[in-house]
Amino acid sequence: MQATAPEPTLPTLHRASPAGAKPNPGLTPIMLNHAAWVTHDVAATADFYTRIMGMELASTVLDDSIPSTGDDIPYFHIFFRMQDGSTLAFFEAPGVPAPAKSTHPAYDIFNHIALQAKNREEVMKWYEWLKSNGIDVIGPTDHKGLILSIYFHDPAGVRLEITTPLDTEWNRHTDKGYEDLKLWVECKEKAKREGRDVPKALIELITGLRKRYD
Ligand SMILES: [Fe+2]
Repeated sequence: MQATAPEPTLPTLHRASPAGAKPNPGLTPIMLNHAAWVTHDVAATADFYTRIMGMELASTVLDDSIPSTGDDIPYFHIFFRMQDGSTLAFFEAPGVPAPAKSTHPAYDIFNHIALQAKNREEVMKWYEWLKSNGIDVIGPTDHKGLILSIYFHDPAGVRLEITTPLDTEWNRHTDKGYEDLKLWVECKEKAKREGRDVPKALIELITGLRKRYD
């Protein structure tokens, strides 16, 4: 009898912790403190986030080495504050070359940060405001009734999203989340075991699941 490969046991596919895993002692981050990127023009960045995005210049740090790693990279670090106290931050470091180009457009589309607006009307107000400042804006896009979003870029090329929930429970679809995660990972593992093309198997899965929304 031919032995079949055991099903993979991946802890994140299930709510329950795997046997022997330590339970989380009640540690969940409270909020976004900051997300940070490199800019090559901190003046343009400061103008964009204060004037266009209406955020407050919250804090700055100048140093000639990185405290966490000890790397000798002189830099100017700047933070901009949103209404809830969370911030977006940037570093300008002299002599740092431009980043390498992405290997696939997906990186430039998927890597982004979304900032929340009050409601649909406010998203449209953002749309008009950004356009009136000559900024290219994509959208508004209704994401399957979950959220409504517009997309644009800051002067450093960071992809930004202004979004508002259309479904008040948009970030509480945990059961469906675990189901989707399991389907996705198991589809990949199964295709690998069977020597099938993994992207093709995943596209078939997506095509099947799309019917949910049609
Ligand atoms: Fe997003």
